[in-house]
Amino acid sequence: MRILVTGGTGYIGSHTVLALQEAGHEVVVIDNLVNSSEESLRRVAELSGKPAVFHRVDLVDEAAVDAVFAEHAINAVVHFAGLKAVGESVREPLMYYHNNLVGTLNLLRVMDRHDVRSLVFSSSATVYGEHNPIPYIEKMEIGANNPYGRTKEQIEDILSDLGAADDRWHIALLRYFNPVGAHPSGRIGEDPQGIPNNLVPFIAQVAVGRREKLMVFGGDYDTPDGTCLRDYIHVVDLAEGHVAALNHVAGRAGVFRWNLGSGKGTSVLEVLRSFGKAVGAPLPYEVAERRTGDLPAFWADASSALADLSWSTTKTVDEMCEDHWRWQKNNPLGYLS
Ligand code: WQD
Repeated sequence: MRILVTGGTGYIGSHTVLALQEAGHEVVVIDNLVNSSEESLRRVAELSGKPAVFHRVDLVDEAAVDAVFAEHAINAVVHFAGLKAVGESVREPLMYYHNNLVGTLNLLRVMDRHDVRSLVFSSSATVYGEHNPIPYIEKMEIGANNPYGRTKEQIEDILSDLGAADDRWHIALLRYFNPVGAHPSGRIGEDPQGIPNNLVPFIAQVAVGRREKLMVFGGDYDTPDGTCLRDYIHVVDLAEGHVAALNHVAGRAGVFRWNLGSGKGTSVLEVLRSFGKAVGAPLPYEVAERRTGDLPAFWADASSALADLSWSTTKTVDEMCEDHWRWQKNNPLGYLS
């Protein structure tokens, strides 16, 4: 099939473009490059041997999105494009609501106009909020506690209403936990702009000498080693989950939700130790104040994706760190290297 991937030059997007091409699909990418570099697609083409078509398009420009559908016979869409920093969303809610919601509404209107109604949407575990017991299960009541998470939740509601109103829509909502790692080639990976918000890219920059030490946000949580537990998932496993979800909805109308996670919690200090093993030396850190908004622990109940998609994670945290380190070591300044 010919798949349109929005946000396809980003971290998860580029790994998914590669997985789609390896599964035999043609890929068209649109991205506004606000948080990523087109170099990632050049590297993906090296790895797959097949160039993806790229259009520098911002989803808030509906006419430009329509022109891409007019030019290419698209069969399905994987939708990643969106702003995704929790802290930034608290400071800039209007930018997040405009970009994430208007961008998605434009995409859906154009898809409908061109009779394209197969969609895989990049959602997030952050929609579960802080009131749900762990492990998180798809049927739980969701309720995000930050503007970024609320845009994901509201897009899920829009897609649920669309599917309920028109049974021609085939929609998968994928709730990611904590994506880390990189393609084993070390040629594509996570390239955050500025100071990384997330744990593993920050650790990787300590390891490569760009940061002095890791600040561990809180060491007094009610967890085995006092640091927060999260469900880390290798980005290559995550990309394969998108291929599996796309195949599933290709033949089934309706709206489906799946957690994409390992079903296990790993602590901050365990991840730091694992990364040190990959580097071959322990990495410097300091235990600091808790970060506002962090939950002590959450992880996925991953049984639905296994049952429905025959998909589950295959890589360990050690493998995630080894692959992340190979990318960072070979590309100390990311795609600018
Ligand atoms: C993980 C743990 C931190 C950095 C976020 C978003 C979520 C999703 C994934 C988009 C926490 C600790 C971190 C550091 C630290 N993104 N930490 N020092 O917060 O679980 O999830 O990213 O969908 O929406 O909320 O991931 O990597 O930021 O933090 O101690 O320098 O690492 O306190 O316990 P998080 P994270």
